[in-house]
Amino acid sequence: MTTAVTIPKSGGSGGRTAVAAKARQVVKAYGTGETRVVALDHVDVDIARGQFTAIMGPSGSGKSTLMHCLAGLDTVTSGNIYLDETEITQLKDKRLTQLRRDRIGFIFQAFNLLPTLNALENITLPMDIAGRKPDQAWLDRVVETVGLAGRLKHRPTELSGGQQQRVAVARALAARPEIIFGDEPTGNLDSRAGAEVLGFLRRSVDELGQTIVMVTHDPVAASYADRVLYLADGRIVDEMSNPTAESVLDRMKDFDARGRTS
Ligand SMILES: Nc1ncnc2c1ncn2[C@@H]1O[C@H](COP(=O)(O)OP(=O)(O)O)[C@@H](O)[C@H]1O
Ligand SMILES: [Mg+2]
Repeated sequence: MTTAVTIPKSGGSGGRTAVAAKARQVVKAYGTGETRVVALDHVDVDIARGQFTAIMGPSGSGKSTLMHCLAGLDTVTSGNIYLDETEITQLKDKRLTQLRRDRIGFIFQAFNLLPTLNALENITLPMDIAGRKPDQAWLDRVVETVGLAGRLKHRPTELSGGQQQRVAVARALAARPEIIFGDEPTGNLDSRAGAEVLGFLRRSVDELGQTIVMVTHDPVAASYADRVLYLADGRIVDEMSNPTAESVLDRMKDFDARGRTS
């Protein structure tokens, strides 16, 4: 179930390449002179299409910065970011905004739902704003996948935290983005609700072919992924395929031990 899949160019990916997004020699620095902080230090990474990738690393290692740069939410200091074959680091603001709206989905730690809209209206809001008509069959499948069929008329305040985040997951999935980015999407949930949301993310990869990149510091959350990338001091220092919570935890202990002796 969690084996790596390579989708042929002519396959279900609509003629897209097997790499959904990539970074080449990406540097992101904040500030100048003595206060200069290098958050990303010549990062090269390929994000495989149709896979669930987790980004892990200690606080301050550059996880959020990498995600924001890959998603076109932040500019890079140097280097290149590509979404499929589009170099997003070349795009002007307006084109970048359009690309984010049309090709990328986001799930944040705070669910960011509109309180006056019901679950269904929240799910279709981005498409409504973009003037795109939702594909009803797809929408039904997404709602089914995230287990919200009986909750569509409920407002966010009438839903649990886990259900609200499932609405946010459905909202991200509904527009069929090429890639979904999540920064600690289960960070505000208890472990049971978190497991539910992670299970739905997993299903959206397995059953809907979605590509997902998730930042997390939780080994259990990372174990839902196909591949884990480890960041330290703005560099990718390791990666692991088919992780388990235990193997991720062991790897983290290794890093901690090395950090203490170096
Ligand atoms: N807007 C900013 N201004 C200055 N420094 C920043 C900014 N955002 C992040 N940083 C710094 O960049 C480094 C990486 O941050 P971040 O990507 O948020 O790490 P993580 O998500 O792994 O905790 C940290 O040293 C952080 O302090
Ligand atoms: Mg962060």
